Amino acid sequence: MNAVVFYSNTGQSRAVAEFFAERLKYAIVDIWECKEVRYHDLVLVFPVHCQNIPDAVKAFLERVSADNLTVIATYGKMCCGNVLHEIQQKYPHHIVAGAYVPTKHSYIDDDEIFCDFDRLMPVIEKIKQPSEIVLPRLYKNPLADVFPVLRSRLGLRICRSADCSNCGACTAQCPVGAIRNGMTGCRCIRCVKCVTVCPKQALTVKMSLPMKLYLRQKKANRLIIYI
Ligand SMILES: Cc1cc2nc3c(=O)[nH]c(=O)nc-3n(C[C@H](O)[C@H](O)[C@H](O)COP(=O)(O)O)c2cc1C
Repeated sequence: MNAVVFYSNTGQSRAVAEFFAERLKYAIVDIWECKEVRYHDLVLVFPVHCQNIPDAVKAFLERVSADNLTVIATYGKMCCGNVLHEIQQKYPHHIVAGAYVPTKHSYIDDDEIFCDFDRLMPVIEKIKQPSEIVLPRLYKNPLADVFPVLRSRLGLRICRSADCSNCGACTAQCPVGAIRNGMTGCRCIRCVKCVTVCPKQALTVKMSLPMKLYLRQKKANRLIIYI
């Protein structure tokens, strides 16, 4: 089977995945609904979280096998870490292409989305004529591996307004099952999916000053392609 599998909380990776699926004429599957474990061509699109590979993506990579794997990491123009190299080091997959795609940051309302899809065409061509590649190591902040979830919890709060109708959409769609009775528990990874799916826009993110200052720093905006 050939497929584009995506993990996406705020829609950026999903948009990139849709581009690949359309151009390659492959099925597109949400990582949470993905039952297949054996692929011929697999394109995996996911966001960088705290310069790391999200846990859902790690679990997926552990249970699937692919003859040809393409890994596409979207990132919010801060730092993409070293996730593609780490995938190649940790999992025994035959990687044929990769890319870091700068997109809108999940926490910044007025950030620009990625729409320059034509620049990804070399990756499409490489998937059609696959051969194994070696992904280089990139810079990753040494602190990125120290309590990443705790750091994003300290930097960001999710607040509920009186508009909340207790419809349960956030509870149902939380990727880590962190919401119970409208309350966010300690499993929360601050992916802000709940904020995105709330039909009443009753959830908002409140950032601490250090987080605001961090996100205001000069950003990286590089599309990096490996073929
Ligand atoms: C918990 C979390 C951590 C993030 N960490 C980083 C990061 O370290 N560097 C970065 O450039 N962007 C970071 N981002 C931004 C996302 O990588 C970026 O917005 C991505 O495109 C979101 O993809 P999605 O909309 O498919 O979920 C982070 C976003 C979240 C929610």
